[in-house]
Amino acid sequence: MGSLKNEEEMEQIVEESKEAILYVNGVRKVLPDGLAHLTLLEYLRDFGLTGTKLGCGEGGCGACTVMISHYDRKLKKCVHYAVNACLAPLYSVEGMHVITVEGVGNHKRGLHPIQKSLERYHGSQCGFCTPGFIMSLYALLRSSQTPPTEEQIEESLAGNLCRCTGYRPIVDAFRVFAKTDDALYADISSLSLQGGEFVCPSTGKPCSCGSKTVNDIDTNGQSICSATYKPVSYSEVDGSTYTDKELIFPPELLLRKLTPLSLSGLGGLKWYRPLTVKYVLELKEKYPNAKLLVGNTEVGVEMRLKRIQYQVFISVTHVPELNMLNVKEDGIEIGAAVRLTELLNLLREVVTQHPAHETSACKAFIEQLKWFAGTQIKNVASVGGNVCTASPISDLNPLWMAARAKFRIINCKGNIRTALAEKFFLGYRKVDLAGDEILLSVFLPWTRCFEYVKEFKQAHRRDDDIAIVNAGMRVCLEEKGEEWVVSDASIAYGGVAPLSLCAIKTKEFLIGKKWNQDVLRGALNVLRTDILIKEDAPGGMVEFRKSLTLSFFFKFFLWVLHQIEGKKPIKEKVLLSHLSAIKSLHRPPLVASQDYEIKKHGTSVGSPEVHLSSRLQVTGEAEYTDDTPMPPNGLHAAFVLSKKPHARILAIDDSGAKSSPGFAGIFFAKDVPGSNEIGPVVMDEELFASEFVTCVGQVIGVVVADTHENAKRAAGKVHVEYEELPAILSIEDAVSAKSFHPNTEKLLRKGDVDLCFQSDQCDKIIEGKVQVGGQEHFYLEPHSSLVWTMDGGNEVHMISSTQAPQKHQKYVSHVLGLPMSKVVCKTKRIGGGFGGKETRSAFLAAAAAIPSYLMNRPVKITLDRDIDMMTSGQRHSFLGKYKVGFTNNGKVLALDLQIYNNAGNSLDLSLAILERAMFHSDNVYEIPNVRIFGSVCFTNFPSHTAFRGFGGPQGMLIAENWIQRIALELKKSPEEIREMNFQGEGSILHYGQQLEHCTLAQLWNELKLSCDFLKARDEVDQFNLHNRWKKRGVAMIPTKFGISFTTKFMNQAGALVNVYTDGTVLVTHGGVEMGQGLHTKVAQVAASAFNISLSSVFISETSTDKVPNASPTAASASSDMYAAAVLDACEQIKARMEPIASQRNFSSFAEIVRDSSIVRKKGKKVPLSTTNCNVRQFTLSRVSNSLPI
Ligand SMILES: Cc1cc2nc3c(=O)[nH]c(=O)nc-3n(C[C@H](O)[C@H](O)[C@H](O)COP(=O)(O)OP(=O)(O)OC[C@H]3O[C@@H](n4cnc5c(N)ncnc54)[C@H](O)[C@@H]3O)c2cc1C
Ligand code: FES
Ligand code: FES
Repeated sequence: MGSLKNEEEMEQIVEESKEAILYVNGVRKVLPDGLAHLTLLEYLRDFGLTGTKLGCGEGGCGACTVMISHYDRKLKKCVHYAVNACLAPLYSVEGMHVITVEGVGNHKRGLHPIQKSLERYHGSQCGFCTPGFIMSLYALLRSSQTPPTEEQIEESLAGNLCRCTGYRPIVDAFRVFAKTDDALYADISSLSLQGGEFVCPSTGKPCSCGSKTVNDIDTNGQSICSATYKPVSYSEVDGSTYTDKELIFPPELLLRKLTPLSLSGLGGLKWYRPLTVKYVLELKEKYPNAKLLVGNTEVGVEMRLKRIQYQVFISVTHVPELNMLNVKEDGIEIGAAVRLTELLNLLREVVTQHPAHETSACKAFIEQLKWFAGTQIKNVASVGGNVCTASPISDLNPLWMAARAKFRIINCKGNIRTALAEKFFLGYRKVDLAGDEILLSVFLPWTRCFEYVKEFKQAHRRDDDIAIVNAGMRVCLEEKGEEWVVSDASIAYGGVAPLSLCAIKTKEFLIGKKWNQDVLRGALNVLRTDILIKEDAPGGMVEFRKSLTLSFFFKFFLWVLHQIEGKKPIKEKVLLSHLSAIKSLHRPPLVASQDYEIKKHGTSVGSPEVHLSSRLQVTGEAEYTDDTPMPPNGLHAAFVLSKKPHARILAIDDSGAKSSPGFAGIFFAKDVPGSNEIGPVVMDEELFASEFVTCVGQVIGVVVADTHENAKRAAGKVHVEYEELPAILSIEDAVSAKSFHPNTEKLLRKGDVDLCFQSDQCDKIIEGKVQVGGQEHFYLEPHSSLVWTMDGGNEVHMISSTQAPQKHQKYVSHVLGLPMSKVVCKTKRIGGGFGGKETRSAFLAAAAAIPSYLMNRPVKITLDRDIDMMTSGQRHSFLGKYKVGFTNNGKVLALDLQIYNNAGNSLDLSLAILERAMFHSDNVYEIPNVRIFGSVCFTNFPSHTAFRGFGGPQGMLIAENWIQRIALELKKSPEEIREMNFQGEGSILHYGQQLEHCTLAQLWNELKLSCDFLKARDEVDQFNLHNRWKKRGVAMIPTKFGISFTTKFMNQAGALVNVYTDGTVLVTHGGVEMGQGLHTKVAQVAASAFNISLSSVFISETSTDKVPNASPTAASASSDMYAAAVLDACEQIKARMEPIASQRNFSSFAEIVRDSSIVRKKGKKVPLSTTNCNVRQFTLSRVSNSLPI
């Protein structure tokens, strides 16, 4: 074990504190030694601060955002910034103040205005992402001296993902903080401490910053305040309930001197925090393989996802030499540990202070950094970390190379050498650094007159995404008459090779040439041979990447021309229609609005109420499965997973797991006490693979250990020997191998397709093929279950994140061999499901139940995001092959369609999904002759499952593809073809249903008018006419969607309503709250039914022992079904109370209830509870089943 050391030999030694400490929400915590393996998130959640969520564990979703405050000795002020707690090593925040969502406000003390605003604007649905959003904005406001702009607010949220709500309400809620700068809580005195002195929330010291005066720094700890804390605007938000003071910066941390740290973690991990470069170099000499850490945004991901174990970490965040930022005569010197946000701020300042021609490279870096990761990552990630990781898709390295940057490198003896960025990258994640060297700083020279640097990046989306291809380009031009000759150039790419790559031949070609169309053509030709991407290059998309390398250069050519054009006369001009190629993307602040009609029924129905959990969601108090405290003696589970798509299991060696730290047990198929065969529709799966594995990620066994980390490590040590077998990895393979799930071939027919094609009715017949890809569910809350036994194993209980608690109950009873009556599953809320938690979650609960039952101990399983994605299936990919006949007018006469979905290795719900795709294959179009053949493909992928739309979107997409093709063929607009083929009142669909109350044409026409579609179409056409390189599109597409389960008996719902003598009502029903507001809507119905306020109704959880045999919460029908069930129950109770209620005038509902509970009618009390009130076949026979072949 390590210890805190006093490094006396260090120059910058300062008064050393005796212990490693941290403040969390104003509370002092001593950090013991031995925790170097922990992230800040693990630490916070371990002691119950579960408002900070684990969404992805790799800095990508922002659910774990917290605010860090520390006293920056360089800036001489307190700085506040948002970070991802999932990547921040615990010891990296030593001596700092961490504020989590719990430190901002809570539902008892009162909501912080940010929380209040998000609640009021309906900014949360499942709520799992919500604390992260709150903390990102909180950090922005705490760090802003003036109200932030709308752009800054949106930028601060770039690192936060929300999967349910949509960003419009979130941005609307936060936009109010940009508006005015009126006082924070109206009464500034609420921030004052004893004696009426104002206490600065930033420094924690009495000061006058609240009244706008700025004190200066006093390093002796006297009256320190430089960060002017100016209250921000909450003018539109009622912060009156927020009575708390803003948490101040702990005074101890201001006075405390920095100390070097030497600590340790699990597995002999060593953690150092040196304070001088001299000490860094000594450590590097001693441990040549040590990892230098700044943001841990690379190393953290490597450790978590690639499971790489490192032994020694040197945290260099506090080393002054590595944190310098010097603006010099010839350029800028940037310390290797400088964070990207700091660099961005400096560059933004520099471009306003220096002549424009000097800062061309600076501007390119500003643009590139704008689209680099999210704010939380930029706040901690370092320049040196990015350079030395040498990722082939680093966004900055091609720019350093192009901009003539130089890297200063220091070795353990203190010798410094300089390397050109262009020459620094040697191979895949290999740089020109010896084992005893580190990067000291980066020097970025000013650009010269007529020297231009430009950045390029193409990613799947703009914000927070990694590049497909990126580039940095520079050219230095000399004026020769009206022509411009290249005197120097540099063209560097990322994403085209294992390293950032210079296009050397192109550079050589360019030098000495005139900057004109000839040089463009020539350079593009040279580039084609200079940058070669192999057909099998990792990352795929080879053609696209090749074309990006060329189009970037083309844009650069135009951009440079345009730059000169503004200053000098030039022969070569950029055509106006070509300018769109070089305009940088400017995204104006998001503006949108939503209208809804308020038609109230009774006290609550029809009223736009906020989500009933929203107060708890915005404060982080809303509990999800993984937030449930671990019971004493609890164990964590991790899976042993198949690494092969199809193989025979020859042997399993679990000896490594058994000797792993914290190991408690391991279980395989042979240990399952009940049945190992499971499945939601047919039992075609195994809980634990026994003889064969049929996909990567299939569960072979489960390991339990004392911690999640130890369980994962132990599971990773199980060695499985396989005999590999041929695998089917695509729908096409499955179709040619006739690899279909048994009894899944289906046919739907209407009219006579063959006859129609043969007749001369069809003027044209087209054929085509549509491939629809799969999709991750990406519910923000990963799968999680906590299972425990009671009465010596006679009962099994669980809390699960699922859309179908009854399925968990059923699976667990099945694999344990217990009656369902002895198994209970409860679900309070889930952090999103989207279909992914309808069936697949039950497998995980069942697997965790095995060790829990056999060992009689609580077992929790929460999947890491990568394991979740690997094991739990996706939206089905589809293949549709169509033949469509139509008239010259565009009237569709016949559709012949073959449709296949990729089910993966078990049937799960794939047949119902295929059928729904078949039902929706007409979208909204009247087709007299239809033949649809469907088949469910068996492939060696994890079983694909329900996903929003349940096959409907895939069917409709295929239909819209042939509509588009017809429009192209007939040179008409797709909207015209659509309108001409609309179904109408009385249309009989290809599965026999007759349309009633069909509002399609009316809706379409209203919408077309209200959005002025024809004008929009005209504007788009005009834009496209005048812009050669940027195109716009506009479309209007109708859909029809069949709600409810196609398996009719599932369209039933149950509810339990209890009425209490204080007039409050407790409702339990079979549906699960997953963000869609089901509980809110159902509670509104109960409130209106009893004519009481919404606050008098409470829905605590969904539980299989309250409402049995419920259908999964799915099929877009749960609100209708459960609200109807609850209404029925309420009406029954009301009917029972009626004889009493009608006796006299009661002053309140509570009074009626009290009388009902006392008064006896023929010796009986009025029952104030209805149980198991089933509303069956709610949706009647909406959809008929397809015909089996
Ligand atoms: C969610 C997310 C989004 C991201 N988005 C982008 C993006 O858009 N573009 C992009 O380019 N990158 C992106 N990255 C990658 C990453 O953020 C950057 O590479 C970052 O700059 C790394 O810095 P760090 O301080 O966190 O590195 P760390 O993880 O702390 O260290 C990384 C490596 O650098 C070495 N190192 C650090 N300093 C030195 C030094 N002075 N001398 C020698 N070696 C050193 C370490 O030993 C280690 O091997 C993203 C990462 C995440 C997690
Ligand atoms: S960013 Fe930390 S959990 Fe996703
Ligand atoms: S509310 Fe944002 S992920 Fe669910």
